[in-house]
Amino acid sequence: MAGIFFGVALAAIQLLPVPHTNPPWNASLQAPDAVIGMLKRACYDCHSNQTRWPWYSHVAPFSWLVSRHVMEARRRLNFSEWEAYASDPETASHKLGEIADQVSSAKMAPWYYRLMHPEARLTLAERQKLIGWAMSTSTRLRSSD
Ligand code: HEC
Repeated sequence: MAGIFFGVALAAIQLLPVPHTNPPWNASLQAPDAVIGMLKRACYDCHSNQTRWPWYSHVAPFSWLVSRHVMEARRRLNFSEWEAYASDPETASHKLGEIADQVSSAKMAPWYYRLMHPEARLTLAERQKLIGWAMSTSTRLRSSD
């Protein structure tokens, strides 16, 4: 009986609308191809307007979580809005510093995302390359300010 109720409830929540938007974006981020490749593989699904919405993002209740995470992630760091960051070297430098922090403490990409997306599991060497790029670019922007 509980099983039937649960099944019906699970079917019913699929009908609630969940936003899966991809607003327009511009490619203004300048970085070596290897770095862009890593960011696309490991970060863009949440931190850009080029989200490839995965199958589980269409299944409630995961859809709610994924949608909320992507909105929150875009609000904090959105590679599609890099042009706006770049217009103020201080802002761009700060964002790059945060990227280096998050990657070196292994907080990003989040573990549950790495679990579901093997291509987002960066090797130690890849992470070091990404951190090196973020830190050196951050310093360069700050000193040219
Ligand atoms: C599954 C979605 C997802 C992926 C993939 C992801 N992030 Fe995040 N990221 C988030 C969320 C959600 C937040 C905000 C909440 C938090 O800090 O945990 C965030 C926050 C951040 C912040 C801001 C922290 C702050 O203090 O404001 C940075 C920087 C960041 N992520 C970098 C990255 C980088 C670099 C990658 C790729 C290596 C990445 N993220 C991959 C979801 C994601």
